[in-house]
Amino acid sequence: MKTPIPPASDFTRREFLATSAAAGAGLLLATSTLEQTASAADADGAVRRKRYAVVGVGDRSGMYRGAILKTYAQTSEMVGFCDINLGRLKLAQRKARELAGVEVPIYEAKDFDRMVRETRPDIVIVTSKDATHSRYIIRAMELGCDVVTEKPMTTDEKQCRAILDTQRRTGRNCRVTFNYRYSPHRAQVKDLLMSGVIGDVLSVDFHWLLDTIHGANYFRRWHSNKVNSGGLMVHKATHHFDLVNWWLSAVPVTVQATGKREFYTPQMAKRLGLASHHERCHTCPEKSKCTFAIDLVASQNLKELYFDNEQYDGYFRDRCVFRPDIDIEDTMNVMVRYNTGVTLSYSLNAFNAWEGYAIAFNGTKGRLELKEEEKVFTNKDGSLPRAIKGEGTYIRIYPLRAPAYEVEVWKGEGSHGGGDRVMLEDLFVPGKNADKHQRAADQRSGAYSILVGIAANQSFRSGKAVQIVDLVPRLEMPDYPAMPSHAESVPMPPKV
Ligand SMILES: NC(=O)c1ccc[n+]([C@@H]2O[C@H](COP(=O)([O-])OP(=O)(O)OC[C@H]3O[C@@H](n4cnc5c(N)ncnc54)[C@H](O)[C@@H]3O)[C@@H](O)[C@H]2O)c1
Repeated sequence: MKTPIPPASDFTRREFLATSAAAGAGLLLATSTLEQTASAADADGAVRRKRYAVVGVGDRSGMYRGAILKTYAQTSEMVGFCDINLGRLKLAQRKARELAGVEVPIYEAKDFDRMVRETRPDIVIVTSKDATHSRYIIRAMELGCDVVTEKPMTTDEKQCRAILDTQRRTGRNCRVTFNYRYSPHRAQVKDLLMSGVIGDVLSVDFHWLLDTIHGANYFRRWHSNKVNSGGLMVHKATHHFDLVNWWLSAVPVTVQATGKREFYTPQMAKRLGLASHHERCHTCPEKSKCTFAIDLVASQNLKELYFDNEQYDGYFRDRCVFRPDIDIEDTMNVMVRYNTGVTLSYSLNAFNAWEGYAIAFNGTKGRLELKEEEKVFTNKDGSLPRAIKGEGTYIRIYPLRAPAYEVEVWKGEGSHGGGDRVMLEDLFVPGKNADKHQRAADQRSGAYSILVGIAANQSFRSGKAVQIVDLVPRLEMPDYPAMPSHAESVPMPPKV
């Protein structure tokens, strides 16, 4: 490029900034296809609060429990907790008592139906282990509830088809909480693409980096076996593929991929100077030498959530990241062709020197680049996520044959780049304005986002391209905003 990129302030464009303050502050609230928040009034005019039950009371559920019990308690009510682990259930019950002074009934997983019958939730929130989502999504809808589920919606195509069939049959709402869409700067990218500043997009280059703290975390928990998580292609990349689908307002058609595990291996333990891999950090004879080791007992959160409850289910949250029974990949490359003809080149690596991602959209009028770097991890307790590193994060526009410029990045506060807070408002605040970015997602987006990863997993094994339609036939288009079309005229770029 001939012209160096000047400081952001010199080239910030007024038209983008005009909307940034509002959206950055999370004021552009989405209209949910689910009217979860509009509580009905009783005959005497009293507002009836929405009734929620939560299945899976681990770490992630804490965000929803806090929102319902405290932040949005005026319109929301917690009526039941369900989990396989009685210890974590009792912990969730105690936390609810301490937080909001309420006694939430607890139910073991086998009693899920009884919980729904006895507590009559309007909405079941599913925050259990990934591969268990489908059974609760399906059963909740069959029992007459709407559903809010964490990503990934499920982990394989069979469960995906079963969810879609049940939703069609019951007509219940199924909301998939893609919090990444709600980070202000990601909504800003959607806004820029919709504005046509780079014309219509023809191809995308997307590279996601997990570092050796966050990345390693997936190799010690239940996520390290595909039977639980679908691997990082499903568990993690569902976020990324959903972002691309939504950014492009398009759906994937064909997927070709390669994947391997070469860092989190027994051989790597030896290359790092350890005698061997071991079962878990807590009992590891080499833990003082291993900088991948975590101490479950040192962190109050990890201790009370997992260590103190091992007796109930035998789950170790600190398994060795180099053990041989891990069957997920740490190095993945994927090519996707979209229904609009757009092509995506994507990679995910879990052993990087920095954490974040870089994405470039190549359009008929220019190129948009977003780079986001996260601050270095400080807690050794595995808790997530971290804040965005201001100086490592930018959005650049490179018009065809014209000077490039930076756009001031919309900022948010809190976890997941500010996305969690804005998403909770969308879920729990009544009477929202229409969302021009259509961030609220249902089972169709939930399906398309996992199907890329499920197809990639198949392609890893077969070496062949996989058609999405062969995994799930007749999957409807999600609701997406209109984008610049491939048929519009494009200005001739300036002569240089
Ligand atoms: N959107 C995000 O950014 C984000 C972040 C973290 C986790 N998540 C998702 O949230 C979900 C929970 O993750 P987590 O980090 O809280 O994991 P976790 O291990 O802390 O909690 C999972 C809980 O599910 C329970 N569980 C396991 N099997 C069950 C079953 N058969 N029935 C009922 N409960 C069962 C476990 O006992 C545990 O309490 C996962 O689907 C994960 O992908 C999403």
